[in-house]
Amino acid sequence: MSKVTVQAPANIAFIKYWGNTDDNLPLNNSISMTLDNCLTTTTVAFTDESYDTIEIQNQHGTYEELKRTSIKGSKAYEQIKRIRELAGSEKRVMVKSVNSFPANAGIASSASGFCALTAALLLVYGLKNQFEDKKELSKLVRMSGSGSAARSVMGGFVELIGGDAHHVSYAVQLADEKHWGLCDVIAIISSDSKKTPSSEGHRSAHSSPYFETRLHEMTKRIESTRKAIERKNIEKLGESIEQDTISMHAVMMTSNPPLYYWEPGTLDVIKHIISWREKDSLQAYFSIDAGANVHVICEKKDAQEIAKRLSTVSSVQSTIVNHPAKGVHEIENHLF
Ligand code: DP6
Repeated sequence: MSKVTVQAPANIAFIKYWGNTDDNLPLNNSISMTLDNCLTTTTVAFTDESYDTIEIQNQHGTYEELKRTSIKGSKAYEQIKRIRELAGSEKRVMVKSVNSFPANAGIASSASGFCALTAALLLVYGLKNQFEDKKELSKLVRMSGSGSAARSVMGGFVELIGGDAHHVSYAVQLADEKHWGLCDVIAIISSDSKKTPSSEGHRSAHSSPYFETRLHEMTKRIESTRKAIERKNIEKLGESIEQDTISMHAVMMTSNPPLYYWEPGTLDVIKHIISWREKDSLQAYFSIDAGANVHVICEKKDAQEIAKRLSTVSSVQSTIVNHPAKGVHEIENHLF
């Protein structure tokens, strides 16, 4: 195959990965849901040039080359090299990538991006078995340096096992995308890109006096999250989601140097969600990654009402409603 196109979803972590080993392995297990309105489409083809090229479509619809010197760029070009060596090939590639969500919305595209890139490379270099073996694929995706990307390999609800060796850290599907009609209504507060990349945060997490406590709490929280997903219990799930978000941000804020990802609007949305829950019994729960935007997790029946209410909050610029998506898969339509 000389040209391949794949599509991969982003995901929202209910239980978040924060803190890694010296070999970039996630120290704790994490659990997420894939997002059907936050997709990356990537086409990879062989080229006669003596170098690799990656281009990403910007918000004006034109392609821009991904700089090798950027954090994302160095990880992406390194991943091409890794897969090429695995295939024992010399061939160089041309890569083009498009996100379905606004590039300037401040939503992390690295999970869907690195998952799509790795999957398309495996197929173009003829490593079909590694693509089809989703456990193996998730390990290769994780090696790109984006742990969250490993959870985009499978559809629906996925757990990434943490650990201190390559062979023990991989993704496992807890339930597929049809299991539960949950929604993630993303409230866009700020479209700025991350102030401190996650890779730096994973390293400095150890400096927080609360990091060990967070790891200690994890086993119980992972267990109750798995159970809540299996039993479709939104209240129990929401409780774990919010506890985990606060625990991760407490570690971030107490690390050295401290990391403050929230904006005033972030807290404003949190307060609204709590008050809608208390006053109107609206089952909505907040989750916040390494950024200011708030992911509001709810059941499908409440998603439109929540999106409507969020649009009246002055700090919310826009909303994106997501349902569980299927995992990374090949598609017919090439980008070039
Ligand atoms: C806060 O190292 O996977 O999103 O490459 O930036 O996506 P990116 O980060 P990664 O760490 C993820 C950090 C997190 C929590 C999570 O998604 O588990």
